[in-house]
Amino acid sequence: MTAPLVEATGLKVAYPVSGFRRPPVEIVHGVDFHIDAGETLGIVGESGSGKTTIGRAILGLAPVSGGSITFDGADISHAAGAARRALAKDIQVVFQDPYSSLNPSLTIGRTLAEPLLVQGWDKDKATKRVLELLDRVGLPKNAAERLPREFSGGQRQRVAIARALAPGPRLIICDEPVSGLDLSTQATVLDLFIEIQRDTGVAYMFISHDLAVIRHISHRVGVLFRGEIVELGTTAAVTNDPQNPYTQRLLLAAPVANPRAQRARRAERLRLREEQEATYGGLEKLARRGIARAAAETTPRQFRKAVSS
Ligand SMILES: Nc1ncnc2c1ncn2[C@@H]1O[C@H](COP(=O)(O)OP(=O)(O)OP(=O)(O)O)[C@@H](O)[C@H]1O
Ligand SMILES: [Mg+2]
Repeated sequence: MTAPLVEATGLKVAYPVSGFRRPPVEIVHGVDFHIDAGETLGIVGESGSGKTTIGRAILGLAPVSGGSITFDGADISHAAGAARRALAKDIQVVFQDPYSSLNPSLTIGRTLAEPLLVQGWDKDKATKRVLELLDRVGLPKNAAERLPREFSGGQRQRVAIARALAPGPRLIICDEPVSGLDLSTQATVLDLFIEIQRDTGVAYMFISHDLAVIRHISHRVGVLFRGEIVELGTTAAVTNDPQNPYTQRLLLAAPVANPRAQRARRAERLRLREEQEATYGGLEKLARRGIARAAAETTPRQFRKAVSS
């Protein structure tokens, strides 16, 4: 068996708080997951659940306060300086808003070439790579001479994807990369991600609050709730037969076209919310006894039994 590309074990992330002797505030409370080479792990959860924080921890942008993250078997939890810079070749990122992540005064060609030149590529080789990348993401060659503002949102996101692909990474953290796009553009950009993965074997951690997007792109899905992974499994299992009441509610929150069906779903969602509140009151109790992780892996029935015992 080959080792996973990325493995998080008991990962905790805590941000420092300003003020004298104030303890750091823990956002991610000990999560376990892995990502295999060439695989997409979707991370779904409501706003503030800690999705971005997990991605940032892998990128070395958020402080790991417990547990570990390995990449290709090596512990990168606290990689800094040269070790972290070396990882930039393997681990890249695409954010939600390409406009703020692209330098508005640099041509697309410069934007794409710069990181390669920093890594010591010679100019001709970098120029050739830039043209290859533009082609790969479906942009015309003359895009290289243009500025970000001359592109639509979807095209800018293609530029951001090209930039992430430039060094030939093995993992891309995709943090809500299609959330700012209209629905039809979302679909074409998602298909581009899938095609690129098929051609290059890159793995994705694909973060989204939108279960439809997650379902389209992921092989496996982790559901995050208040800094804990409450359900993790194949996309089919998690989205067709969710075991956790929170996941069930997330599924019901996705809108449908028929108003009567929509009303029924809303009623079901409210019912589940009450059930969930009862359950998670219990989860917090269990967490204090230090067995929350085990609880997250059990089925709801076993879980409720454990809570009520
Ligand atoms: N640099 C920081 N310092 C302190 N707290 C932070 C910092 N960044 C995020 N947080 C807090 O961590 C929690 C989780 O934030 P995070 O951005 O990971 O959520 P998210 O699931 O990505 O939400 P969204 O869907 O809105 O992007 C939030 O309560 C947020 O306020
Ligand atoms: Mg986020």
